[in-house]
Amino acid sequence: MNLEGKSREDSLELIASEVRKCTKCPLSATRTNAVPGEGNPSAQIMFIGEGPGFNEDRQGRPFVGAAGAFLNELLQSVGLRREDVFITNVVKCRPPGNRDPLPEEIQACSCYLDRQIELIKPAVIVTLGRYSMARYFPNERISRIHGQPRRIGDLTVVPLFHPAAALHQPALKETSISDFKKIPKIVEEALAARASKQGEDQDDHDNDNTESLEQLKLF
Ligand code: URA
Ligand code: SF4
Repeated sequence: MNLEGKSREDSLELIASEVRKCTKCPLSATRTNAVPGEGNPSAQIMFIGEGPGFNEDRQGRPFVGAAGAFLNELLQSVGLRREDVFITNVVKCRPPGNRDPLPEEIQACSCYLDRQIELIKPAVIVTLGRYSMARYFPNERISRIHGQPRRIGDLTVVPLFHPAAALHQPALKETSISDFKKIPKIVEEALAARASKQGEDQDDHDNDNTESLEQLKLF
């Protein structure tokens, strides 16, 4: 890992240590372990789920239960390993009884997710389920836009069904598998778009330099 990767890893660990002792919302009172998220600090793809369930709360790691096993299968089906990507959730502590996270809990926790995204700078964010989709597309329906990549600045966001939803509704399983198959191409295109944008920015920068040089020559 290069120096930048190392300092990114340290900064992510700092966020994780803050999450583990966070008391910014009432979920802190009922958690066993907070679940900051894990994976490659330089990941090109980041997966954002909803919140820890029973097993995640016990182990302090994301997606380690049944939904996690299906996510692992999906990753494998496109040649990805968990270590290649970064996996986290919109809330880092388990809502009691696996209820849906409340808007104020999501709001209280969003600073950690914002900082993780800012550090990792993934080319592609895959949202798993409604709550992480709503961060980017608050008025959309997952049944309408699942599997469709959308560009937001130099980020590409792909909303997918939550793997637990696919486990409970067999009809969604095949859809999840075929949506997932699109990911490698989406990542390739996102990286190409990012590289060409960086090329343009560099050209602009070069032009700026030429302009300032020319201005200098006027004096
Ligand atoms: N479901 C989620 O949304 N996140 C997890 O970490 C596990 C299950
Ligand atoms: Fe803090 Fe987020 Fe856990 Fe709430 S869910 S206590 S904001 S880490």
